[in-house]
Amino acid sequence: MVSEIKKSWHIATAKQMEALGATFASVITDSGVIFLHGPLGAGKTTWVRGFLHARGHTGAVKSPTYTLVESYLLADGLVHHFDLYRLGDPEELEYMGIRDYFSDDMLCLVEWPERGAGVIGRADIELTLSYRGSERELMVYATSEKGRKIILQMK
Ligand SMILES: Nc1ncnc2c1ncn2[C@@H]1O[C@H](COP(=O)(O)OP(=O)(O)OP(=O)(O)O)[C@@H](O)[C@H]1O
Ligand SMILES: [Mg+2]
Repeated sequence: MVSEIKKSWHIATAKQMEALGATFASVITDSGVIFLHGPLGAGKTTWVRGFLHARGHTGAVKSPTYTLVESYLLADGLVHHFDLYRLGDPEELEYMGIRDYFSDDMLCLVEWPERGAGVIGRADIELTLSYRGSERELMVYATSEKGRKIILQMK
């Protein structure tokens, strides 16, 4: 498995986290699967908000805590934003037809991916967000060849 830390960022504010999500949106132009790890309130949804706004979404971006997934049809195609925090049993994902979401031409951004382990498959890129006092750190790992190529483009 390709699992190298390519880069990490120190992020002082939520605005900066959104800006970093937007920067990732400019290099993730294709389909793929991004996992977002990190504790409650670390900034995962904030990163996704920046990502989706950079892709042209103009409305609100709320964490799909109860619905598990929110899908956005944007100019570049479909983006699925998952939050699996409240997933009781990974089997629920089978009922919602998870394989259709994770098909090859989709872009999936997944918060709390560990809760769907065994059902949602592998990521191309894994982001890990952590608290640094009131600020945050974001580390990015490539977990596929496709992910490695994307991260190499990050400045
Ligand atoms: N440097 C920072 N980066 C990101 N968010 C920050 C930062 N500093 C403060 N915040 C605040 O922390 C909160 C992050 O919330 P967010 O919903 O993005 O977290 P989350 O990781 O998605 O949590 P959850 O696991 O509950 O879904 C927001 O209220 C945001 O304004
Ligand atoms: Mg969230």
